[in-house]
Amino acid sequence: SQSTAKLYINASDPRVTISRHIYGHFSEHLGRCIYDGFWVGENSSIPNKGRIRLDIVEALKKIKIPNLRWPGGCFADEYHWRDGIGPRKQRPTMINTNWGNVTEDNSFGTHEFLELCDMLGCEPYITGNVGSGTVSEMNNWVEYLNFDGQSPLTTLRKENGRNKPWNVSFWGVGNESWGCGGNMTPEYYVNEYKRYATFAKNYPNARLKKIACGASDGDYNWTDVLMKNVGTRMWGLSLHYYTVPKSWSDKGSATSFDEKEYFTTMKKCLFMDELVTRHGTIMDKYDPDKRVAMVVDEWGIWTNVEPDSNPAFLYQQNSLRDALVAGTTLNIFNNHADRVRMANLAQTVNVLQSLVLTQGNKMLLTPTYHVFDLYKVHQDAKLLPLQLNVPDYQYGDQKMPAVNASASVDSTGAIHISLVNLDAAHTIPVTTTISGSNWHTVEGQVLTAAKFTDINTFDQPGNIRPVPFSHARKEGDQLVANLPPLSVVVLTLK
Ligand code: AHR
Repeated sequence: SQSTAKLYINASDPRVTISRHIYGHFSEHLGRCIYDGFWVGENSSIPNKGRIRLDIVEALKKIKIPNLRWPGGCFADEYHWRDGIGPRKQRPTMINTNWGNVTEDNSFGTHEFLELCDMLGCEPYITGNVGSGTVSEMNNWVEYLNFDGQSPLTTLRKENGRNKPWNVSFWGVGNESWGCGGNMTPEYYVNEYKRYATFAKNYPNARLKKIACGASDGDYNWTDVLMKNVGTRMWGLSLHYYTVPKSWSDKGSATSFDEKEYFTTMKKCLFMDELVTRHGTIMDKYDPDKRVAMVVDEWGIWTNVEPDSNPAFLYQQNSLRDALVAGTTLNIFNNHADRVRMANLAQTVNVLQSLVLTQGNKMLLTPTYHVFDLYKVHQDAKLLPLQLNVPDYQYGDQKMPAVNASASVDSTGAIHISLVNLDAAHTIPVTTTISGSNWHTVEGQVLTAAKFTDINTFDQPGNIRPVPFSHARKEGDQLVANLPPLSVVVLTLK
């Protein structure tokens, strides 16, 4: 059977831009993402600015985080923004019913979130409350955030320390309205969307990019009903899909699994390609010019929580397998960049497929973080279409393509190719032919480890990290690279 991969890249006529917003992240009031994550205690000795943790900010700036979604998730549809402004001591508390019935003290609210985005240099993506809020509550929030004139709400904003509007642009109209956001049918949600969206106003210099709640997994009917009835009156339509290694009742461990479970996980991860393709085909039917963005604003691997941690806090470790999920999914998004223009990994800190884990004053960068670091070269670069002819990764009588890839050319003319070898045992040589480019040099980095279960720990945070890759070279006009098993490789050609 075939053991080498062939890759053909057409660099002669790049058209589609890979939006940097595909590389977005998500921070919900859930477990230790905000509290004891981004946001530290009042007198914490952990270096912080206004209680925002600086080591996390530095780490996320390094990977050029383009946007951050907040305040949920399911939490968004029970969040009342007015509870999270004004003097902190006077803010009311509430119960976070979705995530462990813990008391939410509202100390992290609108101003704090937007200060965080400012420090990160990223765009905020706020999801408004449709499920248990009101149209006027959402309308008021947008006015508070984005209006530059005189009004009672802008006076209040100024009293709370912010003169200028923030001009928030990404605006979610509810979250998972088919489930925790209100258990609505798509037909019912269409009407709700229209009503809420009508009163979520555009102010001068602050046009909202409204994102409608989209489907879960393969609910193609939801996409059809939304596209048919809302169509281009939304900027984007979301899609949620999680890679669950086993089943929702027993998702599987984050760190202890065998090759069979690894194989199944990667198969489920690759299903994202089918989802994006099929939802995209429905969108094409109503919007052939691809004006509406597909926004995959929740994705990632969802495993059982770490032993002895609060089951409602969704704290999971992050192994080399997570990195392979990230690399593969981002390749899928890049290759569908004509429609997928935004995505958000769930979630940034201490929740699900995190980039960052914290323990007291310690912080570690997960294998997933390093994939975002390696892939940042694709942000806002032009997609180069590619064709792949690859060997299978076989397990028992099952198989899947062993290698996936995407390629782009940046504004300086450098070509970036990201390759993932999912095969657990075999090094795979990849021979690449690139038409329309006169490149001379290649360099790269690789992220790999001995086992798919390998992790970074607080004691050994550098176990898995990118290192220079020396197994790529120019042979005649071709690029030849030997991809180690279980690896993410990013090459730069100049
Ligand atoms: O990311 C965790 C949860 O998953 C979100 O709150 C919800 O939108 C989804 O079901």
